[in-house]
Amino acid sequence: MIRPTSPRVTVFHNERALAHATAQRVADLLARNPRVVLGLPTGRTPVRLYRELVALYARGRADFSQATTFNLDEFFGIDASHPGSYRTFMVEHLFGRVNLSPERIHFLNGAAPDPQAECQRYEDEISAAGGIDLQILGIGTNGHIGFNEPARELAARTHRVRLKTETRRANAALFGGDPGRVPPEALSMGMGTIMQARTILLLATGKSKARCIARLLDGTVTTRLPASFLQLHADVDVLMDEAAASEVTSAPRRAAP
Ligand code: PGA
Repeated sequence: MIRPTSPRVTVFHNERALAHATAQRVADLLARNPRVVLGLPTGRTPVRLYRELVALYARGRADFSQATTFNLDEFFGIDASHPGSYRTFMVEHLFGRVNLSPERIHFLNGAAPDPQAECQRYEDEISAAGGIDLQILGIGTNGHIGFNEPARELAARTHRVRLKTETRRANAALFGGDPGRVPPEALSMGMGTIMQARTILLLATGKSKARCIARLLDGTVTTRLPASFLQLHADVDVLMDEAAASEVTSAPRRAAP
């Protein structure tokens, strides 16, 4: 069998080691290319990464002053200032704690009156920024990336999506623990938007991700597991802890140093 060079799979002892190494990688990239364009995720998985980045910034080891960011997705029908919005999450975990310049932070506006125009605006802004250099992703337990949910067909560009029950459940903590209060729709970068990023890091931690990570790496590409499309990208790292890697049998694994 020909061993693919991408996705490269690295397994860390635990979530902390993963976050530490990933933050260092982002800081190195910022040092090499201060004007880097970053694609950022929300969710439980990147919380530790953002904590590590904030710590590096506080020690003068990460400078975001020239960097540009684009977040993957946002709930539809709520304002950026809503306590459950992804924008609020990012302010709390990263934007409010590092020296990113507000005009270089880009976000989908979930309260936009014309969602289609809003999605086009986002695509245009990504193009105008020269595309995304490094896209960081989490993965849903159903294999979604961004809010590209498993389906018969996937959308290439930024679009409005209906969220699956399991996705609303996974986001309930942001809405007082009640999945029924999680907005039923969202705006999300499309599969093509994500796949055009020059480099992609997919982070996965915990046993609940083990099954979809194993499927993601098994060689099949299917719209039923949107993350499986990452197998078609030339520069992807799948970074995970032991628990998330526990069902992987098909890919060569590299232990983290
Ligand atoms: P999680 O979400 O990090 O909260 O597990 C990941 C995702 O849905 O992309």
